[in-house]
Amino acid sequence: MSNTVVVGLQWGDEGKGKVTDLLAQRADVVVRYQGGNNAGHTVVVGGQTLKLHLIPSGVLHPGVLCLMGDGMVVDPLVLCREIDDLEANGISTAELRISGNAHVIMPYHIRMDEAQERARGAAKIGTTQRGIGPAYCDKTARLPHSIRVWDLLDRERLTERAQAQLELKNQCFRHLFDAEPMTLEEVIEPVLAVVPRIADRVVDGRALLYRKLDEGADILFEGAQGTFLDLDHGTYPHVTSSHPISAGACVSAGLGPGAIDCVIGVAKAYTTRVGAGVFVTEQDNEYGNTIRERGHEYGTTTGRPRRCGWLDCVVLRTAARINGTHAIALTLLDVLDTFASVPVCVAYDLDGERLEYVPSNQEDLGRCRPVYEELAGWQQPIGACRTWEELPDNARRYIDRVGGLAGVPVGLVGVGADRDQTISLPAFERARGR
Ligand code: GDP
Ligand code: IMO
Ligand code: MG
Repeated sequence: MSNTVVVGLQWGDEGKGKVTDLLAQRADVVVRYQGGNNAGHTVVVGGQTLKLHLIPSGVLHPGVLCLMGDGMVVDPLVLCREIDDLEANGISTAELRISGNAHVIMPYHIRMDEAQERARGAAKIGTTQRGIGPAYCDKTARLPHSIRVWDLLDRERLTERAQAQLELKNQCFRHLFDAEPMTLEEVIEPVLAVVPRIADRVVDGRALLYRKLDEGADILFEGAQGTFLDLDHGTYPHVTSSHPISAGACVSAGLGPGAIDCVIGVAKAYTTRVGAGVFVTEQDNEYGNTIRERGHEYGTTTGRPRRCGWLDCVVLRTAARINGTHAIALTLLDVLDTFASVPVCVAYDLDGERLEYVPSNQEDLGRCRPVYEELAGWQQPIGACRTWEELPDNARRYIDRVGGLAGVPVGLVGVGADRDQTISLPAFERARGR
């Protein structure tokens, strides 16, 4: 029995979908543990590309149970569209379950997300405007009429709660945000229309996981977003409203930290970020443009161009500790194929002081300057490499150096988007065998 967490070490879009799909081959259950459809996880198998927002990336493997965990926020309309898309592509969703304790994104949350972003003006976060923050806000507000997935199953209760919530939201729309109020009908009708399609999938997620663990199942936990978008440990306030870090898997599942055997931290071979916020190694120049074009760095969810920069090993070193990472999956290495030299950030300079970890004080972080080390590029395509030996010497040096700087060995290397374009290294088997 082995329980593994897949967690993003940067600002999201590290390739968690691909790594989860890969590991799901050896899992019995895959649990998405937080976030909602702000996530966009891409899985490519045999040339077919699937983009998942809510459904765990284990869904491609028949017989693997997929659970949308307690820690998620679920937009039922988006969920039904995603189920339809998968089924239309010949992928069964029969094994998909939704935790009753997950909270529901209602149409007023989306309007609130838009209104709040407008009100932030120049200080906007650049949210995905999917209603994520406002839905988590209602969760933590602990009002008697907050809406969980369980509540979808009782028409009367759902209507009552939606009405009570809507009264509060409409006050805000009218008096705080100069936004259009909504009617109960426009809020409730679309949701009620899809409830029959998901009702049979609603479960007590914690009880299900305990049962599976008692049967000896291997559980894989799929994170969304990334460590530096974590509400507590990220670059606040430019973060999401949940806990992408590995500990978030325990909170969502109702398991102690001892239940986690292995943490795989996913990191790109460079850095990207969508939305506003500090980005020490950002290259708003021809280097960044080359990375963006070669890596197709446009948001899976919103289509926005991602901000691009060199690999920040201070970020990786810090994230490795926050998550208790056992091995790194270093993805998109092939994107760097054309560079003659590839800088990596080895430390930060804060007013003349050398920092090894990301400072938690955001004012300090804003003043940090990158200290780079230049590594030689390999200047040849690596997309067809399948073993360590086939990789060019300079690519191997890059991988080794990154592991050394992060303090955690690289166990998987991505050389292309397809499931097969992955090189497994001994550190991966060691981490998995724990
Ligand atoms: P996630 O949100 O962490 O699941 O990542 P995204 O799916 O948003 O973004 C990662 C992108 O990189 C997707 O388009 C993947 O298909 C692609 N990808 C993943 N691994 C590799 C790789 O090793 N090489 C290349 N070229 N693309 C990759
Ligand atoms: P995956 O799972 C990259 C970013 C948004 C914004 C901030 C807050 O695909 O890696 P939110 O809508 O969550 O309130 O937005 O977080 N963000 C992501 N960036 N990948 C993601 O998910 C993201 N999910 C949210 O761009 O800056
Ligand atoms: Mg993504």
